[in-house]
Amino acid sequence: MSTLILYISQHGAAEKSSDILKTKLKDTPVDVKNLRKDVFNPENYENIILGCSIHAGHVQGKMKKFVKKNENLLGRKKVGLFITCMEEGAESQQYFTKNFDVTFLNKLKTKALFGGEFNFERMNFLEKAIIKKISGFTETVSHIDENKIENFAREFEG
Ligand SMILES: Cc1cc2nc3c(=O)[nH]c(=O)nc-3n(C[C@H](O)[C@H](O)[C@H](O)COP(=O)(O)O)c2cc1C
Repeated sequence: MSTLILYISQHGAAEKSSDILKTKLKDTPVDVKNLRKDVFNPENYENIILGCSIHAGHVQGKMKKFVKKNENLLGRKKVGLFITCMEEGAESQQYFTKNFDVTFLNKLKTKALFGGEFNFERMNFLEKAIIKKISGFTETVSHIDENKIENFAREFEG
């Protein structure tokens, strides 16, 4: 048995979360792969955990396409989904239903929001301006919640 964490990340938060999650999964060997640039074969894994992030309410289109294209394959695996984002209220729970089909969401073993970070070092000029205006943050801040990642790992392996 083995587990694939397949992530896509704009400024590194979903990537960092994947690396933390890997350290918390105890039952199987874990490979972490970047959907944008790594070579991988999802058929080789019994468990697949998908990780992505929210920008202007949406997860990366490439992750949505991966889920649609691999519907049958994912139907045969144990699947988890995490999202990194900075919104924390009830509103943020809607990010799942706004971005993925309910059929896919219902078959997930575990899903969670891990929190997120604003990484000003990796934002472009426009992103910096938008984030400063909307959030009030002017410097890099991390709200990635390790407890949520730990809980995800325990539930996924439970
Ligand atoms: C341009 C931009 C738009 C964002 N829009 C949202 C949003 O609509 N809702 C939210 O909760 N977080 C939003 N965020 C915060 C990201 O979800 C957060 O930075 C996340 O950790 C990014 O993960 P990544 O670096 O793996 O892509 C936004 C961040 C940026 C830079």
